[in-house]
Amino acid sequence: MIELDRSLRTPYFLVDEGLLVRNLEILQDVAEQSGCKILLAQKAFSMFSCYPLIRRYLAGTTASGVYEARLGHEEFGGETHVFSPAYRPDEFEVLLRYADDFVFNSPAQVRKYAEKARAAGKSVGLRVNPECSTQEGHAIYDPCAPGSRLGTTAENFDPALLPLLDGLHFHTLCEQGADALETTLAAFEEKFGRWLPGLKWLNLGGGHHITRDDYDRALLIRLVRRLRETYGVEVYLEPGEAVVLNAGFLVSQVLEIVHNGMDIAILDTSAACHMPDVLEMPYRPPVLDSGEAGEKAHTYRFAGPTCLAGDVIGDYSFDRLLREGDFVVFGDMALYTMVKTNTFNGMPLPSIVLRTREGACRLIRSFDYVDFKSRLS
Ligand SMILES: Cc1ncc(COP(=O)(O)O)c(C=O)c1O
Repeated sequence: MIELDRSLRTPYFLVDEGLLVRNLEILQDVAEQSGCKILLAQKAFSMFSCYPLIRRYLAGTTASGVYEARLGHEEFGGETHVFSPAYRPDEFEVLLRYADDFVFNSPAQVRKYAEKARAAGKSVGLRVNPECSTQEGHAIYDPCAPGSRLGTTAENFDPALLPLLDGLHFHTLCEQGADALETTLAAFEEKFGRWLPGLKWLNLGGGHHITRDDYDRALLIRLVRRLRETYGVEVYLEPGEAVVLNAGFLVSQVLEIVHNGMDIAILDTSAACHMPDVLEMPYRPPVLDSGEAGEKAHTYRFAGPTCLAGDVIGDYSFDRLLREGDFVVFGDMALYTMVKTNTFNGMPLPSIVLRTREGACRLIRSFDYVDFKSRLS
């Protein structure tokens, strides 16, 4: 069990600086050994109070649009990259202020914007689709699925665009190992490899679970080195998850226990509002000191306090009975959580807390009624 500061109001996200630094040291080592540059994909984690720390280890950020690009530019520094499936003309103008590298999704988008980006001194790339699915379970996270809008297929690639391009980009992985990257690279090189000589960079996207214990980092390093040597390109990786994997928690409390064929603990945190990936992906998040349903003496279904019948987090078992006020701590909650929270039902947003390497818990931000009301009218 982690030590909790009982003076903090639950629910709150607790990001652990020591665990974050552990990941950052691994990523920095990979970057140094392979010679690649690693960017933080802000879509996974945008806790910008941590950016000065992360900046010491990573080369920059990547963004999905104007707001993330501005945040990366203003709070992180280094290189700011951006990719969008389709840029809005008005937002593109604003992006020229913040982004250094623009990745376009289609030949039409390159034709529309590349010259303007180049004239403003920006680097220009095209996202390609190697049409190589390496994941099973998570179809909604597979950009190579049939009918995907993400990336230009070989059939739609137009070599006449090459004078407008500095690099190519692909993003196809989700929580995967270097073996999946190796498989993808074979498909990518077969379809697009001949266009790489003469380009400046290749971005291998995110989804590399580099900081997971069983990730084959030696293979990743070999793959990156080979790409650099074979094609003379700079290689980028832009992981989100790997930066904060297992570096954060969501701390909640039991509000009430009800019974309907089983014991159901209603928590002060909600899957729908505070960890929507639990429903969207879907997955069962880890809970500290718990077992599978039925594994330990007392099994509970954890559910949120919203009106949504399906606001259910999962079934867990414990050695002891749970009571009102008991803490329930979810693990691996730094990624794709804070960035996806919402105030459905008028649910308060979880506070954001940092545990420093010295062990102190610092309340970074709390939210109130104004945060709910200011998004409505
Ligand atoms: C283009 C792009 N780059 C990077 C990422 C980050 O992926 P992950 O957080 O899985 O590492 C994503 C995630 O969807 C993405 O779409």
